Amino acid sequence: MKLVLLGPPGAGKGTQAASIVEKYNVPHISTGDIFRKNLKEGTKLGLEAKGFMDRGELVPDSLVVDIVIDRLSNDDVVNGYLLDGFPRTVVQAESLNEYLEKNEDSLDFVLNIKVDPNVLVERAVGRRICKNCGATYHVKFNQPKVEGICDKCGGQLYQRADDNEETVANRIKVYMDETSPLIDYYSKKKLLIDIDGQKDIMEVFTDIVRILGE
Ligand code: AP5
Ligand code: MG
Ligand code: ZN
Repeated sequence: MKLVLLGPPGAGKGTQAASIVEKYNVPHISTGDIFRKNLKEGTKLGLEAKGFMDRGELVPDSLVVDIVIDRLSNDDVVNGYLLDGFPRTVVQAESLNEYLEKNEDSLDFVLNIKVDPNVLVERAVGRRICKNCGATYHVKFNQPKVEGICDKCGGQLYQRADDNEETVANRIKVYMDETSPLIDYYSKKKLLIDIDGQKDIMEVFTDIVRILGE
């Protein structure tokens, strides 16, 4: 199964991705996670991406596309994959399309997680992430049992550097300008399926399973 998760910052892509990859046994490929990992490790790529991420802008296509295409050449994608946060521009979508066509391959679904823009800032600003295993929580909507501690592994929770109100507002604007055209792009390809991301986390997942199949 080859999937793309589309949606604005804070829509719930990462949250749903965690459940999808567990159920369907495909790797989770998140470009945001790849950049954050590189930044943590102090690689050249991480340092190049940092400024863009801190400002809530997109990292240039030239830095993103090769990484993803490279990743899709790994052996572990035989059963498919889940792309989270890629593609994010028409140029990225065209590059992915070219790669797929070259391999006589295609995507199965593009799930478009829809959430009212008014709730996105609150979701992102209240997000907390485990330093150790990457599990995602929210101070109001998805609280850990013990404040600041991960339920799954006992790791400490932290807040992403770009999850402050100002940067989130810019990320939403950038999404509207540069990423939302992909809704049209994939609906013309008959791949787009809208998901109501406003429901509870578990209900959203139930809706996704209904589409992907048991
Ligand atoms: P990235 O890491 O992809 O961030 P994003 O797209 O801004 O999306 P988020 O991760 O913020 O949101 P999400 O939809 O995953 O929400 P989550 O599930 O965590 O990208 C970061 C940066 O990297 C970009 O700004 C850019 O600079 C760069 N980048 C990455 N990919 C790129 C690319 N392809 N091209 C160029 N640059 C790129 O949920 C959010 C919160 O809400 C959590 O606290 C969660 O618990 C809560 N929540 C989730 N679902 C619900 C629900 N149904 N109800 C209530 N609360 C919920
Ligand atoms: Mg995410
Ligand atoms: Zn953890």
